[in-house]
Amino acid sequence: MSRPATPNPEDPAGSFGERVELGPGDWLAVTRPTSALSIVTTVDADGRPNAAPFATVVRVSQEPLQLAFTCTEGSDTCANVQATGQFMLNLVSHGEDLLRRVVITAEPLPSGIDEAAHAGLTPLPAIRIRPPRLLECYAHLELETEWLKSWSGRCMVVGRVVAASARRDCLGPDNELVWKEARPVHYWGGTGGHSFTPLGTPMPVVAD
Ligand SMILES: Cc1cc2nc3c(=O)[nH]c(=O)nc-3n(C[C@H](O)[C@H](O)[C@H](O)COP(=O)(O)O)c2cc1C
Repeated sequence: MSRPATPNPEDPAGSFGERVELGPGDWLAVTRPTSALSIVTTVDADGRPNAAPFATVVRVSQEPLQLAFTCTEGSDTCANVQATGQFMLNLVSHGEDLLRRVVITAEPLPSGIDEAAHAGLTPLPAIRIRPPRLLECYAHLELETEWLKSWSGRCMVVGRVVAASARRDCLGPDNELVWKEARPVHYWGGTGGHSFTPLGTPMPVVAD
């Protein structure tokens, strides 16, 4: 099912802004690769949005489709997920401008201040949940919390996908992800600066 094009001043034709809502049979396509850098958007109990990048996002179940990530206990992301039971995974493409903005969203701003707005990222309403999608990201997974577990100052969050959408130009004819348009990212860590690797073209291998 297609949603209407989203107006974007830098893209009057609308091809960048247009999001395709994926049916459940196509959700798996946007969890390939099985882990990729995301900006997690949440809202607090009063509905105020928050954004932060997370590298530790991984698909943990295919059926039902579930993803997990870990966060610091007491961080805004953790507190918001604990309070609302919802989070959005906004999948990031490799490219210097967007990755610079991703790093800005990691700045520890006071609770209630939206890091996405601070980084110049554009909110789009979600399909099913309260946290917003971010226009500059190539795909969006909307999740409701399945369970959380805190240990050693960390919290592991497992969520169940309840809706998904992607940029039209990142999807092929069967709604499969078009690798060279999406350009998913892995994060190398932050020692001495942040480094990112674009994920390469998938190579099919068949065992004899
Ligand atoms: C590229 C990138 C990836 C990150 N990945 C993680 C991660 O996987 N887990 C984590 O706890 N923090 C991660 N961080 C740090 C958090 O984004 C950061 O602590 C942030 O301030 C948390 O924000 P919040 O308080 O709004 O939740 C990452 C930072 C960057 C720049």
